[in-house]
Amino acid sequence: MIRKYKNLCSPITIGNVTFRNRMFSAPMSGAEITPECTIGSKSTAFYELRAKGGAAAVTVSELMVHPETDASHAYHLNTKTVGSVASFTYTADAIKRHGAVPSVEFSHSGQYAGTYLLDKNKKESMTQYGPSEGTRPDGLPVTPLTREQIGQIVEAYYENARLAKLCGFEMIMVHGGHGWLLNQFLSPYFNHRTDEYGGSLENRVRIVREVLTAVRKAVGPGFPIEFRMSGSEMFKGGYGLDEGVRIAQAVEDLVDLIHVSAGSYKFGFSVTHPSMFRAHGCNVFLAEEIKKHVSKPVAAIGGLNDPAMMDELIGSGKVDVVVMGRALLADPFLPSKVEENREDEIVRCLRCFVCMAERGTTQTRRCSVNPLIGREWEGMDIQPARKKKKVLVAGGGVAGLEAAVTAARRGHEVILCEKSGSLGGILKCEQGIDFKHEMYQLGVTLERQARLEGVEIRLNTEVTPEYAEEIGADAAILAVGSEPIVPPIPGIDGENVVVVNRYYLEKDRVSGDEAVVLGGGLAGCESAVHLAREGKKVHLVEMRAGLAPDANIRHRPILLKELEEQKVDCRLEHQGLRITGEGVWCMADGKEVLVPGSTVICAVGQRARKNEAAALRDIAPVVKQVGDCIRPANICMAVYQGYHAAMDL
Ligand SMILES: Cc1cc2nc3c(=O)[nH]c(=O)nc-3n(C[C@H](O)[C@H](O)[C@H](O)COP(=O)(O)O)c2cc1C
Repeated sequence: MIRKYKNLCSPITIGNVTFRNRMFSAPMSGAEITPECTIGSKSTAFYELRAKGGAAAVTVSELMVHPETDASHAYHLNTKTVGSVASFTYTADAIKRHGAVPSVEFSHSGQYAGTYLLDKNKKESMTQYGPSEGTRPDGLPVTPLTREQIGQIVEAYYENARLAKLCGFEMIMVHGGHGWLLNQFLSPYFNHRTDEYGGSLENRVRIVREVLTAVRKAVGPGFPIEFRMSGSEMFKGGYGLDEGVRIAQAVEDLVDLIHVSAGSYKFGFSVTHPSMFRAHGCNVFLAEEIKKHVSKPVAAIGGLNDPAMMDELIGSGKVDVVVMGRALLADPFLPSKVEENREDEIVRCLRCFVCMAERGTTQTRRCSVNPLIGREWEGMDIQPARKKKKVLVAGGGVAGLEAAVTAARRGHEVILCEKSGSLGGILKCEQGIDFKHEMYQLGVTLERQARLEGVEIRLNTEVTPEYAEEIGADAAILAVGSEPIVPPIPGIDGENVVVVNRYYLEKDRVSGDEAVVLGGGLAGCESAVHLAREGKKVHLVEMRAGLAPDANIRHRPILLKELEEQKVDCRLEHQGLRITGEGVWCMADGKEVLVPGSTVICAVGQRARKNEAAALRDIAPVVKQVGDCIRPANICMAVYQGYHAAMDL
């Protein structure tokens, strides 16, 4: 077989271990940490899925090496805690049995200890240790680590490495990036020590060298040690790429793989976890530069998900390994699909941050496009249905497509009817906005999957009770979606108004240099960013006092910052009264004001097609509703409901 992405699929030997390909799964905290800080079975299944999907290495996320001075990161490997060694061993096993190399990341959050603790009392009663005295942004004091404590932390790395090897891990990742303890020592911004651990680069690197030496002592020669670092801290006062190169050079004799990420926790997530507003692979230049100056293999990370781009990175020798985080949440089988030349079946990550937001709000792990994430232990395989049924799906948007694909995978005979001439539903609108291309692509991928699974697709076909009667389905899934709300204000039907959902079709009608977006929800804000990036002066009009309340807690701050950077003029508590050729007249503070713009984009929300769904309630013995026709929500909900409706048939 000729592999299309032969570079990506080629094995690599690091230390004395051979990895089956160049695609590694980044450390990501799993779905469950037990109260004893061990890996719960849900998390084991979470890591296992990525191994099953073909990644060459799967890294278990942050093991807290020294709980005495830390209390934030996930797991704690401790022989005194009943079940700890067993949980790590089961997890290493679960990864290994699918041919992947199990790795575990060692971390210490340093002055950010307690960041992820939801127990505020515990958080406040803790002491936060860092390289130097200071005050955290939340006002908590930072206590400098003594030399003796540094020695204890280094010793803890040794002990944990010894245990990790005992548990069957075959690689260890030492986390020296993203603003956690080792990075705090490396950073001139955090480290103001005047002893041998501060000042010159040689001194700032000292603790890292001590840690790596201790880990090497514990695991012996040939056992791969991966050093994760930020190639640049990417903020004023932090170190830049020049120092990043020197840091890599200063540790290369002690490690087998240099994993180059970027940024710092201190400045939010949009650099460490490139948001949808940034280019794919935007941090790779750091790894590429570092590779020129070291002799050890180098890995790159950051918004990578495109097989062609990743293959080129390896083929051209820019880096040796690519690491993916969110891309493998979205589709754990990405590596297998790459190996099998099935790249058009890859479900791409949307970079919507649902994965990280849910952790912060509900403490669960979710993914917009992968209904299994966080629930892998409930069963990773789609079981065939006991009895084959004829299933009619009404609506070819994301919920309907997901339901159709899943039902077909279970062996049902599926007919999917779509009223319009193409599939994708509301996702089709996203093709007008470049940074949301992956959302549009999701519809395309699901359509491809549906066709491959043998779903019979009938376009330009509206399901009516009479039509359903003719088909005689055993079950029906109603996914008739939602439609845009158009407020009944004078001028709304004018030539200068484009409803946001039709923007991709009517782009040419957006004229002039100044535009008004009416509605400051998620869709309105993202449209405003897009238009501003296209060079327009954009005014965003919102009736409420805040923007994008429907955005998740991770995406929202990034979106708001983007609005600011694009200089979008945000008018809050402005109620649109009428639209004229000059723009939108609004009521604000008891006065009428004109918000100027030659084009108005109307983005005031969606309305569920409840009546249409209700009219189909009795079209089959089993009828289920999914997606926006219940209540306009998000892709995550549509995928989840579509998947489970089909699993219930
Ligand atoms: C849900 C989630 C959990 C993460 N947990 C960790 C972690 O525990 N340790 C860590 O070093 N990085 C963690 N990361 C960061 C990833 O390892 C990676 O650096 C980041 O997601 C950027 O890569 P990507 O663009 O491929 O997602 C996490 C990322 C995500 C999305």
